[in-house]
Amino acid sequence: MGKNNIYGVILAGGIGTRMGNVEKPKQFMEIGGKPIIIHTIEKFIMYPELDKIIVLSPKAWIRYTQDIINKYINKKEDVVVIEGGATRNETVMNSIRYIEEHYGLDDDTIIVTHDSVRPFVTYRIIEENIRYAKESGACDTVIPASDTIVESTNHELITNIPDRSAMYQGQTPQTFHAKKLRDLYDSLTQDEKEILTDACKIMVLKGEHVHLVEGEVFNIKITYPYDIRVAQSLLNSESSD
Ligand code: CTP
Repeated sequence: MGKNNIYGVILAGGIGTRMGNVEKPKQFMEIGGKPIIIHTIEKFIMYPELDKIIVLSPKAWIRYTQDIINKYINKKEDVVVIEGGATRNETVMNSIRYIEEHYGLDDDTIIVTHDSVRPFVTYRIIEENIRYAKESGACDTVIPASDTIVESTNHELITNIPDRSAMYQGQTPQTFHAKKLRDLYDSLTQDEKEILTDACKIMVLKGEHVHLVEGEVFNIKITYPYDIRVAQSLLNSESSD
Protein backbone atom coordinates (compact mmCIF):
# COMPACT_ATOMS: atom_id res chain seq x y z
CA MET A 1 0.00 0.00 0.00
CA GLY A 2 1.36 3.42 -0.98
CA LYS A 3 0.95 6.96 0.34
CA ASN A 4 -2.25 8.14 -1.24
CA ASN A 5 -3.82 9.61 1.90
CA ILE A 6 -6.85 7.39 1.35
CA TYR A 7 -8.08 5.02 4.07
CA GLY A 8 -10.75 2.32 4.12
CA VAL A 9 -12.82 2.60 7.29
CA ILE A 10 -14.90 -0.49 8.11
CA LEU A 11 -17.60 0.34 10.64
CA ALA A 12 -18.16 -2.65 12.92
CA GLY A 13 -18.78 -0.91 16.24
CA GLY A 14 -22.45 -1.95 16.52
CA ILE A 15 -23.90 -4.96 18.29
CA GLY A 16 -26.76 -5.71 15.91
CA THR A 17 -29.78 -5.52 18.22
CA ARG A 18 -32.24 -5.93 15.34
CA MET A 19 -30.68 -9.29 14.49
CA GLY A 20 -32.15 -10.57 17.79
CA ASN A 21 -30.59 -12.89 20.29
CA VAL A 22 -27.51 -14.20 18.55
CA GLU A 23 -24.28 -15.07 20.34
CA LYS A 24 -22.15 -12.62 18.35
CA PRO A 25 -22.73 -9.22 16.74
CA LYS A 26 -24.09 -9.79 13.21
CA GLN A 27 -20.84 -8.73 11.48
CA PHE A 28 -19.26 -11.93 12.88
CA MET A 29 -22.04 -14.29 11.74
CA GLU A 30 -20.99 -16.56 8.88
CA ILE A 31 -22.22 -16.64 5.30
CA GLY A 32 -20.56 -18.94 2.78
CA GLY A 33 -18.34 -20.35 5.56
CA LYS A 34 -16.74 -17.00 6.51
CA PRO A 35 -17.69 -14.15 8.85
CA ILE A 36 -19.62 -11.37 7.07
CA ILE A 37 -16.98 -8.79 8.03
CA ILE A 38 -14.27 -10.88 6.32
CA HIS A 39 -16.18 -10.77 3.01
CA THR A 40 -16.35 -6.98 3.45
CA ILE A 41 -12.65 -6.56 4.29
CA GLU A 42 -11.73 -8.71 1.25
CA LYS A 43 -13.48 -6.22 -1.05
CA PHE A 44 -11.35 -3.40 0.38
CA ILE A 45 -8.13 -5.44 0.28
CA MET A 46 -8.65 -5.81 -3.48
CA TYR A 47 -8.53 -2.05 -3.88
CA PRO A 48 -4.89 -0.96 -4.41
CA GLU A 49 -5.11 2.77 -3.61
CA LEU A 50 -5.80 2.50 0.13
CA ASP A 51 -2.99 3.30 2.59
CA LYS A 52 -4.61 1.21 5.33
CA ILE A 53 -7.90 -0.44 6.18
CA ILE A 54 -9.09 0.57 9.64
CA VAL A 55 -11.63 -1.77 11.22
CA LEU A 56 -13.54 -0.46 14.24
CA SER A 57 -15.11 -3.04 16.59
CA PRO A 58 -16.83 -3.00 19.97
CA LYS A 59 -14.15 -3.09 22.68
CA ALA A 60 -15.04 -6.64 23.78
CA TRP A 61 -14.66 -7.90 20.19
CA ILE A 62 -11.35 -6.31 19.16
CA ARG A 63 -9.26 -9.41 19.91
CA TYR A 64 -11.78 -11.64 18.16
CA THR A 65 -11.81 -9.37 15.10
CA GLN A 66 -8.00 -9.47 14.93
CA ASP A 67 -8.06 -13.27 15.29
CA ILE A 68 -10.41 -13.80 12.34
CA ILE A 69 -8.43 -11.32 10.23
CA ASN A 70 -5.26 -13.30 11.00
CA LYS A 71 -7.07 -16.47 10.04
CA TYR A 72 -8.71 -15.37 6.78
CA ILE A 73 -6.85 -12.36 5.36
CA ASN A 74 -3.51 -12.86 3.60
CA LYS A 75 -2.42 -9.22 3.53
CA LYS A 76 -3.28 -8.71 7.18
CA GLU A 77 -0.55 -6.07 7.59
CA ASP A 78 -2.80 -3.75 5.55
CA VAL A 79 -5.51 -3.95 8.23
CA VAL A 80 -5.61 -2.44 11.72
CA VAL A 81 -8.33 -3.08 14.32
CA ILE A 82 -9.28 -0.38 16.83
CA GLU A 83 -12.17 0.41 19.15
CA GLY A 84 -15.43 1.82 17.77
CA GLY A 85 -17.53 4.50 19.45
CA ALA A 86 -20.90 4.71 21.17
CA THR A 87 -22.63 5.86 17.96
CA ARG A 88 -21.89 5.29 14.30
CA ASN A 89 -20.58 8.85 13.93
CA GLU A 90 -18.39 8.42 17.04
CA THR A 91 -16.98 5.30 15.40
CA VAL A 92 -16.12 7.35 12.30
CA MET A 93 -14.51 10.00 14.54
CA ASN A 94 -12.36 7.34 16.23
CA SER A 95 -10.99 6.39 12.80
CA ILE A 96 -10.09 10.01 12.03
CA ARG A 97 -8.40 10.41 15.42
CA TYR A 98 -6.38 7.25 14.77
CA ILE A 99 -5.30 8.46 11.32
CA GLU A 100 -4.25 11.80 12.79
CA GLU A 101 -2.19 10.15 15.54
CA HIS A 102 -0.54 7.45 13.43
CA TYR A 103 -0.28 8.71 9.86
CA GLY A 104 -1.03 12.45 10.04
CA LEU A 105 -4.16 14.22 8.83
CA ASP A 106 -3.89 16.46 5.78
CA ASP A 107 -6.53 18.60 4.06
CA ASP A 108 -6.72 15.99 1.31
CA THR A 109 -6.92 12.88 3.55
CA ILE A 110 -9.89 10.81 2.38
CA ILE A 111 -11.83 8.16 4.32
CA VAL A 112 -14.03 5.63 2.55
CA THR A 113 -16.45 4.67 5.36
CA HIS A 114 -18.37 1.44 4.88
CA ASP A 115 -20.77 -0.71 6.92
CA SER A 116 -19.08 -3.97 7.93
CA VAL A 117 -22.43 -5.65 7.22
CA ARG A 118 -22.52 -4.73 3.51
CA PRO A 119 -20.32 -7.51 2.13
CA PHE A 120 -21.47 -7.14 -1.50
CA VAL A 121 -19.85 -3.75 -2.18
CA THR A 122 -17.96 -3.77 -5.50
CA TYR A 123 -14.62 -2.55 -6.80
CA ARG A 124 -16.48 -0.12 -9.08
CA ILE A 125 -18.41 1.41 -6.18
CA ILE A 126 -15.23 1.93 -4.11
CA GLU A 127 -13.40 3.38 -7.12
CA GLU A 128 -16.21 5.86 -7.91
CA ASN A 129 -16.46 6.86 -4.24
CA ILE A 130 -12.81 7.86 -4.24
CA ARG A 131 -13.09 9.66 -7.57
CA TYR A 132 -16.16 11.71 -6.58
CA ALA A 133 -14.79 12.50 -3.11
CA LYS A 134 -11.62 13.86 -4.74
CA GLU A 135 -13.65 15.92 -7.21
CA SER A 136 -16.59 17.06 -5.07
CA GLY A 137 -15.36 16.80 -1.47
CA ALA A 138 -17.78 14.07 -0.35
CA CYS A 139 -20.08 11.42 -1.78
CA ASP A 140 -22.77 8.96 -0.78
CA THR A 141 -23.67 5.64 -2.43
CA VAL A 142 -27.38 5.40 -3.33
CA ILE A 143 -29.87 3.54 -5.49
CA PRO A 144 -33.11 5.05 -6.87
CA ALA A 145 -36.02 4.41 -4.48
CA SER A 146 -38.01 1.47 -5.77
CA ASP A 147 -41.01 1.93 -3.48
CA THR A 148 -42.90 5.19 -3.10
CA ILE A 149 -41.70 6.90 0.07
CA VAL A 150 -44.54 7.84 2.42
CA GLU A 151 -43.81 10.31 5.20
CA SER A 152 -45.77 10.41 8.46
CA THR A 153 -44.34 12.62 11.17
CA ASN A 154 -46.93 11.51 13.77
CA HIS A 155 -46.89 7.84 12.66
CA GLU A 156 -50.66 7.86 12.07
CA LEU A 157 -51.49 10.10 9.13
CA ILE A 158 -49.56 10.74 5.94
CA THR A 159 -47.87 14.14 6.01
CA ASN A 160 -46.20 13.94 2.60
CA ILE A 161 -45.58 11.69 -0.40
CA PRO A 162 -42.46 13.02 -2.13
CA ASP A 163 -41.97 12.56 -5.86
CA ARG A 164 -40.37 9.13 -6.14
CA SER A 165 -38.19 10.13 -9.07
CA ALA A 166 -36.26 12.44 -6.72
CA MET A 167 -35.91 9.84 -3.95
CA TYR A 168 -32.95 7.51 -3.38
CA GLN A 169 -32.10 4.89 -0.79
CA GLY A 170 -28.83 5.45 1.01
CA GLN A 171 -26.21 2.71 1.07
CA THR A 172 -22.51 2.87 1.87
CA PRO A 173 -19.65 3.66 1.25
CA GLN A 174 -19.88 7.29 2.26
CA THR A 175 -16.62 9.03 1.44
CA PHE A 176 -15.29 12.26 2.90
CA HIS A 177 -12.38 14.55 3.34
CA ALA A 178 -11.66 13.45 6.90
CA LYS A 179 -10.56 16.80 8.29
CA LYS A 180 -13.59 18.64 6.93
CA LEU A 181 -15.98 16.04 8.38
CA ARG A 182 -14.24 16.13 11.76
CA ASP A 183 -14.34 19.94 11.92
CA LEU A 184 -18.03 20.03 10.99
CA TYR A 185 -18.84 17.32 13.55
CA ASP A 186 -16.93 19.19 16.26
CA SER A 187 -18.99 22.31 15.51
CA LEU A 188 -22.30 20.53 16.29
CA THR A 189 -24.11 20.87 19.63
CA GLN A 190 -24.92 17.70 21.61
CA ASP A 191 -28.57 17.95 20.45
CA GLU A 192 -27.50 18.27 16.81
CA LYS A 193 -25.20 15.25 17.19
CA GLU A 194 -28.15 13.18 18.39
CA ILE A 195 -30.27 14.14 15.38
CA LEU A 196 -27.56 13.99 12.70
CA THR A 197 -26.90 10.26 12.87
CA ASP A 198 -25.93 10.13 9.19
CA ALA A 199 -22.50 11.59 8.41
CA CYS A 200 -23.62 12.79 4.95
CA LYS A 201 -26.49 14.67 6.56
CA ILE A 202 -23.98 16.66 8.61
CA MET A 203 -22.27 17.71 5.40
CA VAL A 204 -25.53 18.55 3.61
CA LEU A 205 -26.92 20.62 6.50
CA LYS A 206 -23.65 22.53 6.71
CA GLY A 207 -23.95 23.45 3.03
CA GLU A 208 -21.27 21.11 1.66
CA HIS A 209 -21.62 19.32 -1.67
CA VAL A 210 -22.20 15.57 -1.39
CA HIS A 211 -22.16 13.84 -4.78
CA LEU A 212 -24.21 10.73 -5.55
CA VAL A 213 -22.50 7.47 -6.47
CA GLU A 214 -24.61 4.76 -8.07
CA GLY A 215 -24.83 1.75 -5.75
CA GLU A 216 -26.19 -1.70 -6.51
CA VAL A 217 -29.49 -3.30 -5.51
CA PHE A 218 -27.47 -6.24 -4.19
CA ASN A 219 -25.30 -4.00 -1.95
CA ILE A 220 -27.64 -4.84 0.92
CA LYS A 221 -27.14 -4.15 4.60
CA ILE A 222 -27.56 -7.21 6.77
CA THR A 223 -29.91 -6.01 9.51
CA TYR A 224 -32.56 -8.68 10.27
CA PRO A 225 -32.37 -12.50 10.37
CA TYR A 226 -34.13 -12.60 6.97
CA ASP A 227 -31.19 -10.67 5.45
CA ILE A 228 -28.84 -13.53 6.35
CA ARG A 229 -30.87 -15.81 4.10
CA VAL A 230 -30.89 -13.23 1.30
CA ALA A 231 -27.10 -12.78 1.67
CA GLN A 232 -26.55 -16.54 1.59
CA SER A 233 -28.53 -16.89 -1.64
CA LEU A 234 -26.73 -13.92 -3.20
CA LEU A 235 -23.43 -15.69 -2.45
CA ASN A 236 -24.75 -18.95 -3.87
CA SER A 237 -25.82 -17.24 -7.09
CA GLU A 238 -22.39 -15.51 -7.34
CA SER A 239 -20.60 -18.85 -7.12
CA SER A 240 -22.84 -20.46 -9.73
CA ASP A 241 -22.32 -17.61 -12.29
N1 CTP B 1 -21.83 0.79 13.76
C1 CTP B 1 -20.63 1.26 14.28
N2 CTP B 1 -20.60 1.88 15.51
C2 CTP B 1 -21.74 2.03 16.21
C3 CTP B 1 -22.98 1.58 15.68
C4 CTP B 1 -22.99 0.97 14.44
O1 CTP B 1 -19.58 1.11 13.64
N3 CTP B 1 -21.68 2.60 17.41
C5 CTP B 1 -21.82 0.06 12.47
C6 CTP B 1 -22.40 -1.33 12.59
O2 CTP B 1 -21.44 -2.24 13.13
C7 CTP B 1 -22.81 -1.64 11.16
C8 CTP B 1 -23.09 -0.26 10.57
O3 CTP B 1 -22.62 0.70 11.51
O4 CTP B 1 -21.77 -2.25 10.42
C9 CTP B 1 -24.55 -0.08 10.23
O5 CTP B 1 -25.34 0.04 11.40
P1 CTP B 1 -26.53 -0.92 11.81
O6 CTP B 1 -26.93 -1.84 10.73
O7 CTP B 1 -27.58 -0.08 12.47
O8 CTP B 1 -25.75 -1.83 12.92
P2 CTP B 1 -26.02 -2.06 14.44
O9 CTP B 1 -26.02 -0.77 15.19
O10 CTP B 1 -25.04 -3.09 14.86
O11 CTP B 1 -27.48 -2.75 14.40
P3 CTP B 1 -28.80 -2.42 15.24
O12 CTP B 1 -29.19 -1.03 14.83
O13 CTP B 1 -29.77 -3.49 14.83
O14 CTP B 1 -28.42 -2.53 16.69
